[in-house]
Amino acid sequence: MDGNGRWAEKRGHNRVFGHARGAERAREITRECARLGVEALTLYTFSTENWQRPAKEVNFLMKLLSRYLKHEIQQIVNNNFQFRPVGFIDMPPTEIHRELVKLRDATAKNDGMYLNIALSYGSRQEITAAVQGIAADVAAGRLPLNAVTEEEISRRLFTSESPDPDLVIRTGGDQRISNFLLWQSAYSELYFTEKCWPDFKVEDLQEAIAAYSARERRFGKVLNITGPRDESRA
Ligand code: IPE
Ligand code: MG
Repeated sequence: MDGNGRWAEKRGHNRVFGHARGAERAREITRECARLGVEALTLYTFSTENWQRPAKEVNFLMKLLSRYLKHEIQQIVNNNFQFRPVGFIDMPPTEIHRELVKLRDATAKNDGMYLNIALSYGSRQEITAAVQGIAADVAAGRLPLNAVTEEEISRRLFTSESPDPDLVIRTGGDQRISNFLLWQSAYSELYFTEKCWPDFKVEDLQEAIAAYSARERRFGKVLNITGPRDESRA
């Protein structure tokens, strides 16, 4: 969800105005994803690197998030979402930490769309933590070396319950991944748009999904539907 600050500055507002508008978009896009039957939606809300922004902006974002969590809890529960914080949730202020855990617990029995909020999230840090856990278990003799599989690594990531993303969308015009779901997005389709997040409407999501649907996913293989195999059969 990139481009909130630039969107606001371009309109003569301060950056936080863009974040407030961005929060409204997040609400709409979440609802639309559920309507479309998306299995898991991960919103990149705040990265580990974002802690280095000016304190004023960080404080505003934390307040906005706290308000969002308190305000949306009933909706999230009623919509049958499975809310999952994705990231180092001990880092945000205690109040937010409490809200995140509360929301996760309140949706524990739901079985609808995973709503993953990536907060204080960094993919390299996530992988590093997983590797540390694995190394500790191997060193202690709890985990044999041949049990260190791709599945075991996936299981130790914050997203362990969700399927890998089929589609990663980045708004705001930059074409990079910026430490987002590096392991999980190995075969994801990437979609970049110039639109800033506060301008990203339901129609734009539908356009992104249409573009995704038109792509051929080969997962490194060759798709040969009418090739020699058919001839040999004939
Ligand atoms: C994305 O908008 C929201 C967060 C990272 C919290 P930005 O704040 O990155 O906006 P730009 O990229 O500076 O325009
Ligand atoms: Mg940005």
